[in-house]
Amino acid sequence: MTKRDPARLRSRQWFDDPKDPGMTALYLERYLNFGLTREELQSGRPIIAIAQSGSDLSPCNRHHIDLAQRVREGIRDAGGIPLEFPVHPIQETGRRPTAALDRNLATLGLIEILHGYPIDGVVLTTGCDKTTPSQIMAAATVDIPAIVLSGGPMLNGRYHGRCVGSGTVIWEARQQLAEGIIDTDAFMDMAASSAPSIGHCNTMGTALSMNCLAEGLGMSLPGCASIPAPYRERGQISYLTGKRIVEMVWEDLRPSQILTAEAFHNAITLCSAIGGSTNAPVHINAIARHAGVDISMNTWQDVGQKIPLIVNCQPTGEYLSEEFHHAGGVPAVMAELLKAGFAKPAARTVNGRTAGENYADSFTEDRRVIRACAAPLIENAGLMVLSGNLFDSAVMKISAVGDDFRARYLSDPDDPNAFEGVAVVFDGPEDYHARINDPDLAVDARSILVIRGCGTVGYPGSAEVVNMLPPDRLVKAGLTELPTIGDGRQSGTSYAPSILNASPEAAAGGGLAKLRTGDRIRIDLNTRRADALVAPEIWDKREPNVFVPPSQTPWQAVYRDSVGQLDDGGVMTTKFGFATVGPRPP
Ligand code: FES
Ligand code: MG
Repeated sequence: MTKRDPARLRSRQWFDDPKDPGMTALYLERYLNFGLTREELQSGRPIIAIAQSGSDLSPCNRHHIDLAQRVREGIRDAGGIPLEFPVHPIQETGRRPTAALDRNLATLGLIEILHGYPIDGVVLTTGCDKTTPSQIMAAATVDIPAIVLSGGPMLNGRYHGRCVGSGTVIWEARQQLAEGIIDTDAFMDMAASSAPSIGHCNTMGTALSMNCLAEGLGMSLPGCASIPAPYRERGQISYLTGKRIVEMVWEDLRPSQILTAEAFHNAITLCSAIGGSTNAPVHINAIARHAGVDISMNTWQDVGQKIPLIVNCQPTGEYLSEEFHHAGGVPAVMAELLKAGFAKPAARTVNGRTAGENYADSFTEDRRVIRACAAPLIENAGLMVLSGNLFDSAVMKISAVGDDFRARYLSDPDDPNAFEGVAVVFDGPEDYHARINDPDLAVDARSILVIRGCGTVGYPGSAEVVNMLPPDRLVKAGLTELPTIGDGRQSGTSYAPSILNASPEAAAGGGLAKLRTGDRIRIDLNTRRADALVAPEIWDKREPNVFVPPSQTPWQAVYRDSVGQLDDGGVMTTKFGFATVGPRPP
């Protein structure tokens, strides 16, 4: 917007249309009934929405209810008028059957709100896993000025004197329960100890990954992602975010100018460097689809895989979000990536400056937590993208492959990056839980556990279940992990070396539907292939085994009818085209 020209504000069409005083009065009167004045709504001040994701049902984001006060003060001080409204709650761990069902629902709901109400700009309040992508996807579609305010991670958890991280401790505690080391009460205590304060998960799981990537995309103020929820800086950046969005409206700085190919390049690069969640490609590809930018799993392989892991955070490393923040957070990591030539300096961000300008003076304060790219924790640590007769694409978190696993499977002197195992196939998580401890189930150290029926259509929503534990008897004997393959996802807090997000899923005609228990599978990390070693003439004639439970709610049916596969972000399309791209508002 050239200069501060109120006549070009979207909200004027509702609140101050000189050509239609009748409609203006109708739109205006109800927004006065809680104490706003005509002067406020008609004096040419931008109307700034606060998309409120916090509620009692969304504990990871709940403190946004309080932070919104600082956002409002920032908006007011910069000359805007704040209007707060609720977005559909998404709680990762409490929502059955899976929170994944709600990402697109929240996106579609927010699109309608941003498109249909007198809003000039919006503050997106993010935190728990899908609350971040769902809101950015909506803002990208409507393309009005938008800025991300992360809620920030919880403080570090402690249990019996050591640091314990969200999610990650659950996998560990489950293992100890299976081994008989702890009882149920200790299991509950251990799990609860990882959640000591307000905020989202404190490991580099999906929540912290996605908030870091929102910053990497340029959608939040620099330094926003890592500030722990209870710290004073969280309130301060809330105020600054509120101030900044008003300026963004006057500058007409929209998501389409920020969410460019270069921004996605930076996000993918950052994801590798932080050891980000395996859910990140699903969400980043979905944001790209809503932004109209061409990103595919090939981009993740080409851009992301060669990037080193430089952040030492759980689940792949040792530390938690408080140390990550004190070490410099995203600005320090971006500075390392820019210095090494991995990140694109010209990408524009919400503060109006480029990534190169924002992070020019950023540095790492603690080398135990954030390394230089030349001295990484792991080289070539990005997600590896595989294909084969089982799927067109699936990802593997190379940085999560443990030493034990490497020794068992990856140390063949002839071919250290290829291994074979025998498939044990499960149709959905219920089948896995029902049979995994069956004494007659043939599972040993060279088995590969496979789960199908867990993709976007099959589950529906796609379940976080691929990180399957071996049977209790093997865990007790010291075999704590087996390779796993599946068309579902796994929690970003898991350190399991799974091959997941397989697309197309079994329910959409993927090769996993033809796999049978007892088939040999060869995984070759040199060629990035995963294949069932079944003769083509037999494989081609095999009947697919597709297990699709009935939809439990109308939304599940609508979702299944229009959702795509995980490799494409699991976004919704209709027979009229991509459901969420329409004419943009002025
Ligand atoms: Fe909400 Fe982890 S469960 S952030
Ligand atoms: Mg999750």
